[in-house]
Amino acid sequence: SSIALLGVPVQDGTHEKGCLMGPDALRTAGIVETLRGLGFSCTDHGDLSPVTTGSDSISEPKGKAINFAKIAGWTQSLSDKALDMARSSFPLFMGGDHSLSMGSVAGMARYAAEQKRDLFVLWLDAHPDFNLPKTSDSGNMHGMSVAAFCGLSELSGVYGGPLEHPVNTSHVHMMGIRSVDRQERDLLKQHHVCVNDMRILDEVGVIKPLQQLLDAVKQQDAMLHVSLDVDFLDPSIAPAVGTTVPGGATFREAHLIMELLHESGCVTSLDLVELNPFLDHRGKTAELLTDLTASLFGRKIFDRPTRRPHFR
Ligand code: ARG
Ligand code: MN
Ligand code: MN
Ligand code: MN
Repeated sequence: SSIALLGVPVQDGTHEKGCLMGPDALRTAGIVETLRGLGFSCTDHGDLSPVTTGSDSISEPKGKAINFAKIAGWTQSLSDKALDMARSSFPLFMGGDHSLSMGSVAGMARYAAEQKRDLFVLWLDAHPDFNLPKTSDSGNMHGMSVAAFCGLSELSGVYGGPLEHPVNTSHVHMMGIRSVDRQERDLLKQHHVCVNDMRILDEVGVIKPLQQLLDAVKQQDAMLHVSLDVDFLDPSIAPAVGTTVPGGATFREAHLIMELLHESGCVTSLDLVELNPFLDHRGKTAELLTDLTASLFGRKIFDRPTRRPHFR
């Protein structure tokens, strides 16, 4: 089993500059060496370049969606690249702002369809990123990714037309949510997205909600994409993000999730997004993301019997 890394230095989806340095900060933190140290073969595909979509081929939606044509360029380029990478390896996407998931998840959904399997998404984030141009206050497209890859028609222009393989909204499981916009809340309910907010993690912890997802994935022999936004984590341990929200996941909770995901053998692709090295303290957030990735790929404190992940 081999891991393919791809840098996606997009920051057009956010108002805060600096995310474009995310992939290089993860490389500097030693993500490639760490994965090789765990026994994986690991290839760094370098940084993606977006295609330039002619403005005539882009139908801009009504409402606010800043840099729509640029995001469309990144998305279409990444969707193709993700499909290609998935055919031979486990793709790991290094962001870049969270708009990159419009492309990474869409590409993985195309691959899942090739394999005649379904795709689930675990969304680890302070935010649901389920806005539409007409509901977004900010107009920042990193707040719209889930709505896009679930095929909501208002955003289909980023794919150059209706999505052939949208993710089923009930296959999207969110954890860590603690900042939801007014109309975004209604949309989430309307579309039956599974939102585990921080209150749920306070009450029952991370294991039960995660197990519920993993049971569904296993039962359907589905694929599972994990999308980790830095602001899922508490700002005290992960300051390098433009959209910090107090009260996030702790160091122990985050590692536990990663270890359980590893043991499940279910995960088939990963996004590490929103890392803004300009806001970091001596690389601590980049190092934490690297360590969390190591836990996802099987690093543990002490040996215990587990299964290796299967990449299919
Ligand atoms: N909901 C807010 C918005 O739409 C914040 C989104 C933050 N998203 C993120 N990927 N950090 O602007
Ligand atoms: Mn670079
Ligand atoms: Mn996000
Ligand atoms: Mn977020």
